[in-house]
Amino acid sequence: GVANIGVVGLAVMGSNLARNLASREGNTVAVYNRSHDKTELLVSEHPEAQFVPAGSYAEFAASLRTPRAAIIMVKAGRATDAVIDELVKVFEPGDIIVDGGNALFTDTIRREKAVRETGINFVGAGISGGEEGALKGPSIMPGGSDESWVTLGPILRSIAAVAEGEPCVTHIGHDGAGHFVKMVHNGIEYADMQLIAEAYDLIRRATGKSPAEIADVFAEWNRGELESYLIEITAEVLRQVDAETGMPLVDVILDQAGAKGTGAWTVQTALDLGVPVSGIAEAVFARSLSSHPEQRAVSGGLPGPDDEIGDHLTGEDADALIEQIRLALYASKIVAYSQGFDEIRAGAAQYDWSIDLGAVSKIWRGGCIIRAQFLNRIADAYADAPDLPVLLTAPFFVEALGRAQRAWRSVVALAAAAGIPAPAFASSLAYYDGLRAERLPAALVQGQRDFFGAHTYKRIDKDGTFHTLWSGDRTEIEAVDTH
Ligand code: 6PG
Repeated sequence: GVANIGVVGLAVMGSNLARNLASREGNTVAVYNRSHDKTELLVSEHPEAQFVPAGSYAEFAASLRTPRAAIIMVKAGRATDAVIDELVKVFEPGDIIVDGGNALFTDTIRREKAVRETGINFVGAGISGGEEGALKGPSIMPGGSDESWVTLGPILRSIAAVAEGEPCVTHIGHDGAGHFVKMVHNGIEYADMQLIAEAYDLIRRATGKSPAEIADVFAEWNRGELESYLIEITAEVLRQVDAETGMPLVDVILDQAGAKGTGAWTVQTALDLGVPVSGIAEAVFARSLSSHPEQRAVSGGLPGPDDEIGDHLTGEDADALIEQIRLALYASKIVAYSQGFDEIRAGAAQYDWSIDLGAVSKIWRGGCIIRAQFLNRIADAYADAPDLPVLLTAPFFVEALGRAQRAWRSVVALAAAAGIPAPAFASSLAYYDGLRAERLPAALVQGQRDFFGAHTYKRIDKDGTFHTLWSGDRTEIEAVDTH
């Protein structure tokens, strides 16, 4: 074979990735799609590209040089399994099958195990950056074996986005590690988007500014510490005017947010791992709440606060509030990233991956949806302290949170008083205060558990496990059983 890499599945993401691969010096790309028209279309539309079209899996395998490497770009789930089954039939030991879709990492662990038995390598690779990223340079999060990375590394480095001179790809860890990290990336993406949406809503309802005016606010924020792709595109979306009605597009879009599942997976996994990703969870739940029109329709009559914002803030007062909201957004964002990295650390411990958290933050600086300047600060934090147990306790973030916390509290208080939902802002602040608290009411919860279920508790002043005889004489006994 002449091709050094192949792509199976030529929908938008797949063809863009194939084009990206073909555009890099030294790559020849075998392409295959279940319906052959798409393969022919891609090849005929891009005569300049080094494509080798294949009409069957056998032809596809024959056109690849060994060890063969192919990236599957089909819908996550059963379609992926079907393609893997076909490739396993025509590939040989030492070859590499890459799943570039948004697979659930436990599926990737399962597939890797099954494929490995044939001697073929299976690599689950998270790919972020949407259609444009796939074409011009995504952020890539590959898992899989060290052996496969030897072949894949140079190929993936050739197509990844570049941030500060470094390609946005690194070998994350074995089997499902790459898809795990991509999942958390998406969870953070959900949180970031929700926080931005809450900031927009608060500004709009408190100042009465138009979407176009708020677009200017976001454009301004994008020049400061919040600089990021998501802030940038928010300004663009808010500035967009609907051609049909002449209204701001954001006002004619139905306010029910969709979701394809990766945010929910992040939260489900975090629940299993016992990691409090509350900011990410609120973002997922906010989308769920929005998508229940029947519940919302019957709830509009629920009483609201007496002091609902009547007069809009203007002039300096509006500017001051907007600055407070900016700080609240920044602080909440720090919480979301800190929680996300916490989940990656916990996942790595659980699944026995050695994941370099600093390297993860670096490959997110370019190409992906959450790309931002801010990721450099996370990289710095892990460079200074690789085992940092809570990201937001790094000195840089402590300073930022210290600077923001008064504004953050005011904004959450204002939202509550005015009856404006700001779940991600509020829960991020609660998480922050929970971490800070010297004593938590968890002690009372332990007492309650012991009362109704003899679940026992530990004491602050001595070792051992204790139980109070609640239904007896209420003396304390040392317990052996720990529930
Ligand atoms: C990316 C994105 C992408 C994801 C979309 C849609 O990193 O490029 O995360 O993989 O599919 O953002 O996600 P939802 O439909 O769940 O919002």
